[in-house]
Amino acid sequence: VKKKKMIITIDGPAGAGKTTVARRVAGALGYLHIDSGSMYRGLTLKVLREQINLNDQKSIIKTVRGTNLALKQVKGENRVFIDNKDVTDKLRTADINANINTVAAIPQVRQYLLKIQHKLGTKGGIVMEGRDIGTVVFPRAEKKFYLDASIKERAERRFKELHSAGKRANLDEIKRSIHLRDKKDKTRDTHPLCIPKDAKVIDTTGLSVEQVIARILEEIEK
Ligand code: DC
Repeated sequence: VKKKKMIITIDGPAGAGKTTVARRVAGALGYLHIDSGSMYRGLTLKVLREQINLNDQKSIIKTVRGTNLALKQVKGENRVFIDNKDVTDKLRTADINANINTVAAIPQVRQYLLKIQHKLGTKGGIVMEGRDIGTVVFPRAEKKFYLDASIKERAERRFKELHSAGKRANLDEIKRSIHLRDKKDKTRDTHPLCIPKDAKVIDTTGLSVEQVIARILEEIEK
């Protein structure tokens, strides 16, 4: 019997392992993986490149609405296109991390992305990760998860990631940046990060990626 294609949401703070886990869970189920953070990152890149004054919400909204944002699968990999250019490798920078919350806090920006996110989910068969997916984007999703981990562990994961990519990194700086982003994500007025009331919470501190995936798949099989 063919099972119904579900909508699965994974929310949580920065560095909790959402992207790795969501990609692998989607792969195991034959579902589409959508990283909603990459959409906010793409729009923030555009705003920074256009040198829009970050205090000028009207200009940010106008820029966002005039942006052609597309997520495409290229050779089995998720790629982000801004105005038809692949910008995927330009999205994980300190500059974007430092400014993304300004863009993501604007209600019209969230509304704009909400429409795109809804469209992607109409047929089910997706694993979408972010901050407000189980609460706002798909409140009626079949399965919801919330991944968390201690700030120490999340910072160490980012540090290792950057280090193995050959990039310079400072653990204390990463810790500070994650802490600040957590705070901004949890306290913004529009769609703040919080645990969806029907979500399964997984504290990934001390767990391997494999262990987290196994727990999620087990929960989905129920
Ligand atoms: O998941 P990430 O670290 O790539 O997300 C980057 C930022 O994007 C995050 O700090 C806040 C914003 N974001 C959001 O506001 N809502 C989402 N659903 C996903 C990301």
